[in-house]
Parts: sequence; structure tokens; C-alpha cells
Amino acid sequence: MPARSIIALVLLFALSCLSPAPVAASQASDERALREFYDLEEGKRLYGQYCAFCHGERGKGKAYNQVSPPPPDLTDPAVQRKSDADLAMVIHEGEQGTAMGAWKWTLSEKEKRNVLLYLRSLAR
Ligand code: HEC
Repeated sequence: MPARSIIALVLLFALSCLSPAPVAASQASDERALREFYDLEEGKRLYGQYCAFCHGERGKGKAYNQVSPPPPDLTDPAVQRKSDADLAMVIHEGEQGTAMGAWKWTLSEKEKRNVLLYLRSLAR
């Protein structure tokens, strides 16, 4: 391989390492974008129907702590720091081996987004 293409490859690799971090940080939650398309009231209703039993009316967790691990406090910064994509994935797939089930068969894409929007609103 000629030296020039090796240099190009090294540069490409360096760039691909650099770019993801700042993007992830700035996209932790794009709540304004979520709000434009989704419906907080519906999120609140769905949350009350499906999630409050374990996570508590206001998301503070410990509503149903007969399970191990117990439901986390969803308003905790450790949870809220996670990206919309990460939280949406947990809601979609659940957490294997825990009481957190998958909601992909119950909630539509839009309903999951509405619930996520409601989760974001609980943090304040
Ligand atoms: C039967 C109890 C139960 C119900 C109902 C439930 N969860 Fe959970 N949830 C849990 C538990 C337990 C965990 C912790 C899983 C773990 O520790 O990995 C969890 C974790 C989560 C997390 C991940 C937090 C993190 O730090 O990544 C999110 C987000 C979440 N739940 C949202 C929801 C939403 C939204 C609903 C309703 C659609 C819901 N949960 C319904 C028990 C429940």
C-alpha cells in the first residue's frame, strides 16, 4: 500500500474517533424537538396506565420494590443523562433478567416517544 493511502487511512481513523463524543453530549435529550412532534398529555396518560405501578406516579421509583433490581428513580440524573435513543431502546426491548419488560408489542413508536417525553418532563 502506498504511503499516501496509509496516511489517509490513519487520518480517517483519527477523525472517526474524534467525532462521536461531542455529538452524543449535545444530543443527550433534544426535548424541544420531541415536544414539537409528540404529545405530553398522552405520554402522561400512558405512563400512568403502564409504568407508574413500578416507577411511581412521579417516576421516583420504589413504588413496587418487591423485585430485584428495584425500579430505578427515573428522575435521577444518572438516568436522565442517558440519550433519548438509549432510553427509548430500554422501553422498546426491556432489560433482560429484570422486571422491566419490553413494551414493543404494547406501545406504538409514537406512544413510546410520548412516554419518553413525559419521563423527561418528570425530571424538572
Ligand atoms: C413490573 C415493573 C416495571 C414496569 C411496569 C415498568 N418498569 Fe421500567 N424498569 C423496571 C425495573 C426493575 C428497571 C431496572 C432494570 C435494570 O436495573 O436493568 C426498569 C428500568 C427502566 C428504564 C431504564 C432506566 C435506565 O437507567 O436505563 C426506563 C427508561 C424505564 N424502566 C421506563 C419504563 C417505562 C416507560 C415503563 C412503562 C411503559 C416502564 N418502565 C414500566 C420495572 C418496571
